[in-house]
Amino acid sequence: MNPLFARKTLAQLQAEAGEQEAGLERALSAFNLTTLGVGAIIGAGIFVLTGLAAAKYAGPAVVVSFVLGGIACTFAGLAYAEMASTVPIAGSAYTYSYATLGELVAWIIGWDLCLEYAVGATTVAVGWSGYVVSFLSKTFGLVIPPALATAPPTGLLNLPAALIVVAVTALLVVGVKESANFTSAIVVVKVIVVLAFIAACAPFIHAENWRPFVPPNAGGFGHFGFSGILRGAGVVFFAYIGFDAVSTTAQEAKNPQRDLPIGILGSLAICTVLYILVAGVITGIISYKALDVPDPIAVGVDHVGLVWLAPIIKIGAILGLTSVILVMLMGQPRIFFSMASDGLLPPWAARVHPRFRTPHVTTMVTGAIVAAAAALLPLEVVGELTSIGTLFAFALVCIGVLVLRLRDPDVPRPFRAPAVWIISPLGALSSFALMASLPGSTWLRLVVWMAIGLAIYFGYGRKHSRLRRAAAG
Ligand code: ALA
Repeated sequence: MNPLFARKTLAQLQAEAGEQEAGLERALSAFNLTTLGVGAIIGAGIFVLTGLAAAKYAGPAVVVSFVLGGIACTFAGLAYAEMASTVPIAGSAYTYSYATLGELVAWIIGWDLCLEYAVGATTVAVGWSGYVVSFLSKTFGLVIPPALATAPPTGLLNLPAALIVVAVTALLVVGVKESANFTSAIVVVKVIVVLAFIAACAPFIHAENWRPFVPPNAGGFGHFGFSGILRGAGVVFFAYIGFDAVSTTAQEAKNPQRDLPIGILGSLAICTVLYILVAGVITGIISYKALDVPDPIAVGVDHVGLVWLAPIIKIGAILGLTSVILVMLMGQPRIFFSMASDGLLPPWAARVHPRFRTPHVTTMVTGAIVAAAAALLPLEVVGELTSIGTLFAFALVCIGVLVLRLRDPDVPRPFRAPAVWIISPLGALSSFALMASLPGSTWLRLVVWMAIGLAIYFGYGRKHSRLRRAAAG
């Protein structure tokens, strides 16, 4: 069989899951998975990008942008939930596409997911650094020299961003259970801070701040008006990234077939509601024009005179961003782990630590690369690259779920996406639409990244593929 189109059968996948299970610990409950999802989702998107999207693109209608982003993610979330319950082994969209669209597409997806997880972690680490620098200087008068907190060419390196990545990596090497417990604790703080913002600030809403709800288009695509709402949705999409990370821990879940859909859809639903409320409150308490700042939520709180709440919001944001980094740095090594188990990456990448029972080699390699990238790359570049890579993966998972329904109609599906022939095409279309709203330079970076990935596949993976060698006898 031509290896490019070779695909694994579900029976093969289930058998592999059994084989690998001996290595990884099944420690995560439905509650752990939901908090893991919320931990991955609430981060730089809501704490930083809401303000930018309102001030530059959508005005108060950023609320509608969040609704649109939430709808697109729900389509993809349903597809992810069905895939995760049907193919419950580590590796996220990578694993699913191996079973549905074949090895080449699986490799493309796996490589693409590096943009979501590793580049996403880089983005949030850079955002974390910005919040920490501002918090230290405004609260304690402790000024970190800009040259040491900014990527070149403006500065020398972003040291805080690199340090947080190193710290989180160390935690992840020690154990997935410890990491999940740490995330659960942070998630509680993060959600309380978001709820406190909504409750404390809602009484200060002045309806005139919502007028006009959709500011008239200021000329050109994306500058307010209807197209501004769309561009805003493209920007705030970043805020939703992360619910799919739950699926990368399929082999560490106690009851993956029941709990993965709960984790994916539950965390998405919680965050969608919180985001819409936050967006409504922040644009109701202050003019959207004042929100193009690195810490819009804290600025809004200051504006209404709740000065005591601002540092609390900042601490919540810093902790929140930390847990996003953690979940992303947890997902990436597990994708490498799956790819190496399939022979598409060298065997050392599939090693599991004898005592900690974590994929420690890939965790440390990922940590080193992300720390270097976070030290040296600017936020805009890595942020847009994260979004385009994630949207591409969403689209392929939506298509994959349909392919699997056609090819293996009778396989048990503990979770079946409702109206799948409508929902999944809509998921793919909305993902492509959001990709289309991103600039040409981001598309170019995506193409270059994919070209590097294909060179590695044809230079190494194709020759070492376990599936291909098995087929050759
Ligand atoms: N959704 C995550 C965030 O907003 C990536 O930081």
